[in-house]
Amino acid sequence: MTVTIVGSQLGDEGKGGIVDLYGDAADVVARYQGGDNAGHTVVEGGEEYKLSLVPSGAIRGKVGVLGNGCVVNPRTLFDEIDTLRERGLDPDVRVAQRAHAILPYHRVLDGIEEEAKSDSDLDAGTTGRGIGPTYEDKAGRRGVRIGDLLDPETLRDRLEYVVPQKRALVEDVYGMEAGEEFDIDALHEEFSEYGRRLRENDMTVNAGEFLTDHVEAGDNVMFEGAQGTSIDIDHGIYPYVTSSNPTAGGACTGTGVGPTTIGQGEIIGIVKAYLSRVGTGPLPTELKGDDESEDLAEYIREEGGEYGTVTGRPRRVGWLDMPMLRHAARTSGFTGIAVNHLDVLGGLDEVKVGHTYTLDGEETETMPPTTERWGDCDPTYRTFDGWPDADWEAVAADGYDALPDNAQAYLDYISDELDTPVYAVGIGPGRDETIVLDRPF
Ligand code: GDP
Ligand code: IMO
Ligand code: MG
Repeated sequence: MTVTIVGSQLGDEGKGGIVDLYGDAADVVARYQGGDNAGHTVVEGGEEYKLSLVPSGAIRGKVGVLGNGCVVNPRTLFDEIDTLRERGLDPDVRVAQRAHAILPYHRVLDGIEEEAKSDSDLDAGTTGRGIGPTYEDKAGRRGVRIGDLLDPETLRDRLEYVVPQKRALVEDVYGMEAGEEFDIDALHEEFSEYGRRLRENDMTVNAGEFLTDHVEAGDNVMFEGAQGTSIDIDHGIYPYVTSSNPTAGGACTGTGVGPTTIGQGEIIGIVKAYLSRVGTGPLPTELKGDDESEDLAEYIREEGGEYGTVTGRPRRVGWLDMPMLRHAARTSGFTGIAVNHLDVLGGLDEVKVGHTYTLDGEETETMPPTTERWGDCDPTYRTFDGWPDADWEAVAADGYDALPDNAQAYLDYISDELDTPVYAVGIGPGRDETIVLDRPF
């Protein structure tokens, strides 16, 4: 069977930890979208691993797959594999031949376009990894795929078509100098070498066939979403979004496993008990604007370590946004949720939730489809009594009933509103700091 893990909010909900938690029963863990813009943390036995491309099942020695919906920077991939090897792991990663490769010029263009957009406040605050420009080339049918790296002649043909266009864009449109990232010979040499390494290590696959064969053989396959629903290119707060589909439908198109197979499995929404955001754009429940709110945001940021895993940027912080979660549950069809970071809110007198919005004097329960209208939404808050800080390791060992009553009331509320059972509750970053109520496999 399959289990799909989906971020319910704005990314960084603790997806990596839940993949690791349930990953013991998985045979294969596959990413279906995004690239090295992701930063997924797994904490095991006091060791912290931050993964960008290698699927989080690697910590448990599971086979990892980067599906066709991913954009893969081979430099990052091999660096990450080498670093994990130095730490004593032996990652077994397969890459879809249909996945697109991120080339050095994509990163350069990411930076240039963000800078150009910033004058009109349209920059998304990207991770600078070249994600958007690579998906643009995919949709423009001028991308370079992982399968192309395996054949030096095809690779040269692709580069000879696309690189002069990129050079012209930089020089003629932006009036800047195009550097070594736009040198066809240098790119060909570096990327055909990655192709050689991929081939020698037998790392490329036809992802749909590979994964479906596993499912049909009775194996457990987990799909590891990156980013989150509200930064999905279709369902998120466009244009302050990433360029792929983190929502559950992306698991089908991004791997080649059919929707009937994935739909027979479980789809688990990962929820952070409050909001964090590394990018730009509106955020109705953001804690800001007065000293009390800013102090509270600062407190949560420090307690929760809310600094970007990839970029180190301080994350913006807000109260849980229930219309955002209703939108996520509907879009992906969650069969269960995992609520993380409940410990971070411990010690607050009260905890608020944006229960509904008021928009043009009307109450609304879900997110409006345009980001401008979302920015006009005024949250109507529900206030919950807080719960004390606790010895969370002891609570994790004792199980759900050891959670403070007010924390249980908060979880009941979320579960009722989404009409979805809580499968797991995160009360710390470690593998053992999670209360497990249900196991999807
Ligand atoms: P991902 O991108 O969704 O995998 O999440 P990140 O790894 O970017 O960010 C989540 C951060 O919170 C990491 O540092 C995790 O180790 C940590 N974390 C995950 N779950 C919990 C939790 O329940 N409580 C606390 N305090 N930290 C958590
Ligand atoms: P994980 O998988 C949080 C945000 C960026 C920016 C927007 C576009 O760790 O949850 P991109 O580089 O993708 O073109 O940036 O998306 N973003 C993330 N925010 N977590 C992530 O990944 C993110 N990946 C991208 O900050 O606003
Ligand atoms: Mg992250």
